[in-house]
Amino acid sequence: MSDFIPLSIPNLSGNELAYVTEAVRDGWVSSVGPHVQKFEKEMADYLGLPFAIACMNGTAALHVSLLLVGVQPDDEVLAPNLTFVATLNAIRYCFAHPVLMDSEWRTMGMDVDKLKDFLDRETKFIKGNTVNQKTGRVIRAILPMHTLGCPVDMDPLLELCKNRNIRVIEDATESLGSSYRGRKAGTLAEVGCLSFNGNKIITTGGGGMILTADPELARRAKHLTTTAKTDPVEYLHDEVGYNYRMVNVLAALGLGQLEQLPDFVNKKRTNLKHYARLVEPLPGLTMFVEPDFAESNYWLYSLILDRNFPFSIRDLVQQFSAARIQVRPIWALMNSLPMYKDCQAYYCDTSLDIYRRTLNVPCSTHITEQEIDRVVSVLQRLTRGL
Ligand SMILES: Cc1ncc(COP(=O)(O)O)c(C=O)c1O
Repeated sequence: MSDFIPLSIPNLSGNELAYVTEAVRDGWVSSVGPHVQKFEKEMADYLGLPFAIACMNGTAALHVSLLLVGVQPDDEVLAPNLTFVATLNAIRYCFAHPVLMDSEWRTMGMDVDKLKDFLDRETKFIKGNTVNQKTGRVIRAILPMHTLGCPVDMDPLLELCKNRNIRVIEDATESLGSSYRGRKAGTLAEVGCLSFNGNKIITTGGGGMILTADPELARRAKHLTTTAKTDPVEYLHDEVGYNYRMVNVLAALGLGQLEQLPDFVNKKRTNLKHYARLVEPLPGLTMFVEPDFAESNYWLYSLILDRNFPFSIRDLVQQFSAARIQVRPIWALMNSLPMYKDCQAYYCDTSLDIYRRTLNVPCSTHITEQEIDRVVSVLQRLTRGL
């Protein structure tokens, strides 16, 4: 048996194989088949939404969602500086420009006070649109991302955008199963996006979904993700669409995963508490925990280093790697990447602080208490005598 502890790997212990076998046996492996519809319906029911549109991955879901709310070439979209690169890539696929916002420690997501500050000081409302005074461009949308599962403080964010004609899309790719003041992540704005990438809380190997309560947006999301076809028989299409649909065999996998989601969320939350108890006595270290307005799915666990902790994140990566334990620094800031280095970024000092002091530690849903103890023993050894 391997003694390697991975960061986060799929748990396929439910009906996944049975449902995939059914799809293969019946020949429904490609872009049509009953499992896609069933997966969409069951996800919508789980979230309490009328519509969920399956697509090939979370990035495709984000791209189409931006088009749905009317993002056009040369528009601007507000997005966090601290995120996975796909959030920004989706904006560039629309030939729009990301404007980077800071994060806050409470959620590790967008700092809504600073967002207000930016909107008050740097923008003007002109002819029904919010315009960035520095660039003269229209700010069409905002893409808050629920970092590692923890929801952004959405109510004040939605309030800020309401009177400014800024459309809100939730990048909920990491937060399926999380909630904010009792409402599920992904259902808080007019459009939400999910990912079922291999490391997410549930996986279809690769997959995503667009979530909305608006029938017209849902119809258009389906249309755009299925090559904008207008006739069931003839090859007639009315605009440039995308082949972004989810294939049936993967939706079958997703159905097996979705059945286990509540159990996965419970396990993630229970294991986080176990970690937090063990880390609490260690000098200079804490586990990130949700603020009281949010219930996180704790998709990835974050170990936070005090500012004066004597070892860097890179030192810790080396120590864990020598112990055959996979850990990861959080994402590099978007404006440190070559393609986004020239983006306008509004005082992103907290994002930088989070980046420098956060390490993601193993959190698969089937991780054992003994494995968690082994992870923490590396930290106990390192902090002895501090
Ligand atoms: C914050 C964020 N946005 C977007 C994505 C893109 O999802 P996908 O990998 O399914 O394209 C991911 C996950 O990979 C993510 O973590």
